Amino acid sequence: MATGARPKVFCSWGFPEAGLAILREHADVQVWDGPDGAPRDVLLDALRNGAAGVLALPPTDRLNVEAMDLAPDLKVISGFGVGFDYVDVPEATRRGIAVCNTPGTLTETTADQAWALMLGAARHVPEGDRYVRSGEWRKYEPALLLGTDIHGATLGVVGMGAIGTAVARRARGFGMRILYAGRSRRPEAEAETGAVHVPLDDLLRQSDFVSLNCALTAETRGLIGTRELELMKPTAILVNTARGGVVKQAELAAALRAGTIASAAIDVFEVEPVAHDDALVACKNAVFAPHLGSATFATRARMSRVACENIVAALEGRRPPFLVNPAVWQE
Ligand code: DGY
Repeated sequence: MATGARPKVFCSWGFPEAGLAILREHADVQVWDGPDGAPRDVLLDALRNGAAGVLALPPTDRLNVEAMDLAPDLKVISGFGVGFDYVDVPEATRRGIAVCNTPGTLTETTADQAWALMLGAARHVPEGDRYVRSGEWRKYEPALLLGTDIHGATLGVVGMGAIGTAVARRARGFGMRILYAGRSRRPEAEAETGAVHVPLDDLLRQSDFVSLNCALTAETRGLIGTRELELMKPTAILVNTARGGVVKQAELAAALRAGTIASAAIDVFEVEPVAHDDALVACKNAVFAPHLGSATFATRARMSRVACENIVAALEGRRPPFLVNPAVWQE
């Protein structure tokens, strides 16, 4: 890059303008504005051609060794979101590339979505909608689409981080008993929500609703499979707004088919988009959303702003507000 030239930043989607406008004040910004996000070869070309910053979409874009090998000028990878399982963080750290995310921007919105799915699955909201539209509804029936009470039930939260705590906080309004599992005790969350820390197996045995809110890590990949599903009550509902990889998807499909658990409410899949003929999608006793956890106008604008502020800071030599790998930053 010539002295005085503005750094190049590549954005793999037409992210909300709230953030892009900030970026444009500081950088030479290339935004992919095609319908499906930048194809991999376009992303790799941008890296090869001197991008100093990338605004990427987790979990779709893959910022791995292959991508970093092509990126001589790359200084910052900023994700439009909180999860950073799409980037090889140790490799980025080794190369001195800052990896940034947007914690705090989507906590409440994602908790709302977990609840939307939980309510939808428990009370058959999608099926009811389809039933009315199809013209099948002939009369009010005493046993039509009977569901499960949420109020007074037991909620198990797996991963009591910011989003898990926000899910648990909402559960108080429904008079639920709240259990949580995770590596460490969270005294503040316990004080705020009344949640009780238990081993995962106990949580699975006792909960009527299990909400997955943990990050996808080596430890949580495939955390929920046949063994865990068999520990759950046959009336229980599994809610996943975390990452698809936390659940062994084929084993969940088999458990739903067999009636091992009653239902699942799924926002995230092992591979996204999930194939429409995937065994899980074929399960009638499940509710799906296409990764909409953070999908509100206000939250997406906030995510864009924070993600772009991270890039600007890194390119100006300031510590980015939300740095995943602080080891790269020497003040
Ligand atoms: C996140 O923040 O990680 C969301 O899932 C968007 O990818």
